[in-house]
Amino acid sequence: MNSINTNDSKSGNRPIILSGIQPTGGLHIGNLFGAIKNWVAMQDEYQCYFTIVDLHSITVRQIPAELRKSSLDLAAMLIACGIDTDKSVLFVQSHVPEHAQLAWVLNCYTGMGELSRMTQFKDKSAEHYENVNAGLFTYPVLMASDILLYQADLVPVGEDQKQHLELTRDIAQRFNHNYSDTFKIPEPYIPKTGARIMSLQEPTKKMSKSDGNSKATIFLTDSDEEIKNKIKRAVTDSGELLTEEDYVEFLADEKLPYNFSQKRPGLANLITLYQVSTNIGLEGIVEKISGIGFGDIKSIVAEAMAEHLNPIRTRYNEIRKDENKLKEILSAGAEKAQAVAFKTLRKVYKKVGFYSL
Ligand code: TYM
Repeated sequence: MNSINTNDSKSGNRPIILSGIQPTGGLHIGNLFGAIKNWVAMQDEYQCYFTIVDLHSITVRQIPAELRKSSLDLAAMLIACGIDTDKSVLFVQSHVPEHAQLAWVLNCYTGMGELSRMTQFKDKSAEHYENVNAGLFTYPVLMASDILLYQADLVPVGEDQKQHLELTRDIAQRFNHNYSDTFKIPEPYIPKTGARIMSLQEPTKKMSKSDGNSKATIFLTDSDEEIKNKIKRAVTDSGELLTEEDYVEFLADEKLPYNFSQKRPGLANLITLYQVSTNIGLEGIVEKISGIGFGDIKSIVAEAMAEHLNPIRTRYNEIRKDENKLKEILSAGAEKAQAVAFKTLRKVYKKVGFYSL
């Protein structure tokens, strides 16, 4: 189960993917369908680097022992979801010091104004008003460093990270313009369905790990019963059942489920959950739920989601038991990642004029 050699000829010419995920709070179905599903699907065509971003996590206070444990939990869960460490490089961010080193340099090429426009900063500083630290403010610069160190072509993320990606591109272009071509300019890769899984309790708000209401979020470690109960108690709209007219509009809507979701956010979220957990096309879904009540729709979705997550959880419990194996995988991953990161950082240090011995 070791990662591939990044210098080997099989991986040499493939375009590069980098993506990251925070180790805190446990993975939820938003992470799975917004990002990880794509990571798994892209492993054959791309040289992938997936990082567990523990440096990012300390922008919010953490309990050290829990953070330490959750990095291993996350590694096990990513493998259970289908990350194949024979194909992709999986590593913990703090094991590759170049991330923090490049972040310092890029901080000096990023404007305060640019950072203060980041909606995630605004949201998080409101949520953690007692601890609005400088790390929370410069978080997107660290994220830009994660991406640019690996000269990534594509960054598969959910919709909430789009603004950070745009900033990454701006920083890279500015640096390249000031010096000479140093960084590849990355493109975001956002899925058509599942880019924004909504809270089960407030379907106009994205599903998140830190939601105060535990019924709002389905974690990948939830039992079948918990999954079904959460979906059965999901908040749906006060409107009536879908009329035939609704269905026509629904099927004709190109940007599904976004436009529809403004009118019927709870129902649109359920339909999205059904779609991502079964891969049934929209027409098939509408056929299945046409004319039935919300209670029955929820039961169908609940069954499908529980069935989808059950094998992932079983694999996770198995993989998580073998800590030595996980440590080996992460250690090999860090070594491979650092070999690449080091080269980019060396180039950057040279360009900005650091004297090298
Ligand atoms: P994080 O850890 O919050 O989320 C990991 C991935 O899951 C996606 N996601 C969602 N997708 C759909 N619906 C949702 N409700 C939902 N919630 C989360 C996120 O978009 C993300 O793709 N800053 C990043 C981590 C990061 C990173 C990077 C990502 C650090 N460095 C470099 C890409 C490249 C974050 O906090 O993701």
